[in-house]
Amino acid sequence: MRLELRGITKRFGSFTANDQISITVEPGQIHSLLGENGAGKSTLMNVLFGLLHPDEGEILIDGVPTKIANSGEAVRRGIGMVHQHFMLVPVFSVAENVVLGFEPTKSLNRVDYQRATDDIRRVSKEFNLEVDPDAIVENLPVGLQQRVEILKALSHDAELLILDEPTAVLTPQEIDALMDIMRSLAAAGKSILFITHKLKEVKAVADVITIIRQGRVVGTAQPTDSEGDLASMMVGRDVELTVEKSPFSPGNDVFEICDLVVRDDRGFAAVNGVSLNVRAGEIMALAGVQGNGQTELVEAIAGMRPVESGSITLNGHDITRATPREALDAGLGHIPEDRQRDGLVMSMSVADNLVLNTPRRAPFARRGSRNLAAVNANAEKIVKEFDIRTTSIQELVSSLSGGNQQKVIVARELSRPLEFLVASQPTRGLDVGSIEYVHRQMVNHRNQGNGALIVSSELDEVLALGDRIAVMYAGKISGIVDPSTSRETIGLLMTGTSAASIND
Ligand SMILES: Nc1ncnc2c1ncn2[C@@H]1O[C@H](COP(=O)(O)OP(=O)(O)OP(=O)(O)O)[C@@H](O)[C@H]1O
Ligand SMILES: [Mg+2]
Repeated sequence: MRLELRGITKRFGSFTANDQISITVEPGQIHSLLGENGAGKSTLMNVLFGLLHPDEGEILIDGVPTKIANSGEAVRRGIGMVHQHFMLVPVFSVAENVVLGFEPTKSLNRVDYQRATDDIRRVSKEFNLEVDPDAIVENLPVGLQQRVEILKALSHDAELLILDEPTAVLTPQEIDALMDIMRSLAAAGKSILFITHKLKEVKAVADVITIIRQGRVVGTAQPTDSEGDLASMMVGRDVELTVEKSPFSPGNDVFEICDLVVRDDRGFAAVNGVSLNVRAGEIMALAGVQGNGQTELVEAIAGMRPVESGSITLNGHDITRATPREALDAGLGHIPEDRQRDGLVMSMSVADNLVLNTPRRAPFARRGSRNLAAVNANAEKIVKEFDIRTTSIQELVSSLSGGNQQKVIVARELSRPLEFLVASQPTRGLDVGSIEYVHRQMVNHRNQGNGALIVSSELDEVLALGDRIAVMYAGKISGIVDPSTSRETIGLLMTGTSAASIND
């Protein structure tokens, strides 16, 4: 498909999210959109997929001006979309999810699941996207869930595929597999619009790069351009891709985990005897391939998942069986992995979300009644400091872009007094400029003598932040190393090779 977007403008009230955007995507082309959080990428894709209607401009498909009234019509016209946030129904099977809304019917009102299953097998095979059609989606690892989203997008003979940050939740191996899939789709003549914040991926797979800033196309770039050049085109200034850290002078232990065992939803010991200590003024980075117990470990620390045995101590207080509220009161800051489920109340304003963990405390409340002036002043200050892109602090957090939602959580946790921070994938979905800022804040936090445990599946982030690096594999710590350790050694620890058997 040859797609042309001509002068697309989309406004929300007085705010212009897309301003006269023109882009052409050729058949067989992988076209990457690069831009800051809130630049307007998802908005543009939603316009193309019929979920939003442009105020101005037109869409041409193979040269023909086309109005796309809704997503059903987009699909009929050969457009498939993988959304920034998963749109799957967790309790449905893969087949049920893929056909949802487009169920093949045998007779009126009877869904033909046999045909659906056969269709999925065929498409899986054709595009090398293996997944069991009968599996229940919530039981699949995120990488496979992402595959189901792509299958769903492709199963209606899509000629143009929109991928809105499909790699944010994937492991490096899954990302490589996805990039192979993208290349083979392009080789088969399909057009792909690919959004990511990871410059390496853009360089690896894009044919053409369009850069969007504050709703406008500001230029195009080549995959051969350096990461630094791409970053500065995007942000409009130079970005430091690695953060300066002052020498490390840790104090006493502030946080201690002893022989911890935590079960996952299926009763399996996902954390199986973990011991760790973190000192004041120290960032412990926890590396590992996703799915090795990191998620359950963080949930247990935050009081969101029961501990089977072992203990968690924060500043001498036993918080092993603390509720989330008690953990918070003990001085724990928490940046959860699933921002929409655990980090925000989507139906509340930005201002309210920024005091979510301290609504009943001074200065935000006095003698049981809310101090709105303080809540609003706090929001104005944080929004400015963290450059959260919102038209107003009273805006619902649900209307913020994905990256800006993440910034709300990070800003809230880093701007209140804490004894200890536990963060899970804190910069997921953030643009390079925001990552630079958040990393600097985390290092400041550490320089002020606070401890932190930062879980990340990005090796770059682990190496940039960690004063020490713990590696988790199969529910256990496979090694604790210092940040001068080679990537290869950390990689080996991540696949379960024991520290003792590695000669550096
Ligand atoms: N329904 C809405 N109502 C009001 N404002 C909106 C709405 N949807 C998006 N916006 C605003 O439009 C801007 C662009 O958002 P969009 O989601 O397109 O950004 P993005 O480039 O995809 O960013 P990210 O990289 O963080 O996903 C944001 O500032 C957002 O607050
Ligand atoms: Mg987006």
